[in-house]
Amino acid sequence: QRKIILDADPGHDDAIAILLAANSPEIDLLGITTVAGNQTLEKTTLNARRVCSVAGIKVPIARGMDRPMVRRQIIAANIHGDSGLDGPAFGDPTVDVIGMHAVNFIIETLRKSEGDITLVPTGPLTNIAMALQLAPDIREKVQEIIFMGGAYGFGNTTPGAEFNIYADPEAAKVVLHSGIPLTMVGLDLTHQATATPDVLEKIKAIDTPLANTVVELLEFFSKTYYEVFGFPAPPVHDPCTIAKIIDPGVFTTKHVYVDVDTKSELNYGRTVCDFYGVLDKRPNCHVAIDLDKDRFWQLVIKAVERYKPA
Ligand code: BDR
Ligand code: CA
Repeated sequence: QRKIILDADPGHDDAIAILLAANSPEIDLLGITTVAGNQTLEKTTLNARRVCSVAGIKVPIARGMDRPMVRRQIIAANIHGDSGLDGPAFGDPTVDVIGMHAVNFIIETLRKSEGDITLVPTGPLTNIAMALQLAPDIREKVQEIIFMGGAYGFGNTTPGAEFNIYADPEAAKVVLHSGIPLTMVGLDLTHQATATPDVLEKIKAIDTPLANTVVELLEFFSKTYYEVFGFPAPPVHDPCTIAKIIDPGVFTTKHVYVDVDTKSELNYGRTVCDFYGVLDKRPNCHVAIDLDKDRFWQLVIKAVERYKPA
């Protein structure tokens, strides 16, 4: 079992990442930390509690940073709605957050560990960067960071930048230069993880309350992705990170040097990936390239099936 901390800003695809991480035998989910991103911290934290409540997930949830390190805050209400998790009707959550700040939870959990914890950020990298700045000693305790963010191709928030990185480029800078083994699961990969009608049919067929909630999440996500980007099916970005841990063969990667632009006007927040090695720098990041889409959805569908109604 791989020990992970999932750092998320739920978010429709974050919600699915939580479900996959919490109910896959290959993964030991030590905790969920929340960060401002798709919506305000208040809303993303409530959403993490909602998802854990409907699914019966009992892991520590810690509230994290409510704003980026340097830049002005942005949110993605155009994609995730006013609640950050529009679509299904959620009752009052039955699980609460712990009393510790997410940044401290990350630091303390790593310090107590044997160096065998993987951090999985699926939102802006603020909590992770803050933890590294506050406690540089944890660097050697992190086995790996597998983050959803960035792109070597086009951006989705500006022509050059992907949302999670654009929402806190200075935090991404800290992480990219941390020396920790990194895997970047960018848009180039996640745009292959589309929830096409055949996928929706399979999840519908599970026919449990949780599966129906997942369908409602994906239907809302389909609608906004069509309206905003004209995509025929929505890319379900965040669970691709978890899928890689469960099944390392689910996508291919290339080890290259990656940096983030924090200076330019047009390309602020763009991840710059040196595929041809023209900078002659040591590769610092495994960049995700090709997804086995069927294998990916198999993992998600199996995990949803494992949730039994209470
Ligand atoms: C990323 O941005 C968010 O809207 C999604 O949850 C995902 O983490 C995709 O750019
Ligand atoms: Ca996210």
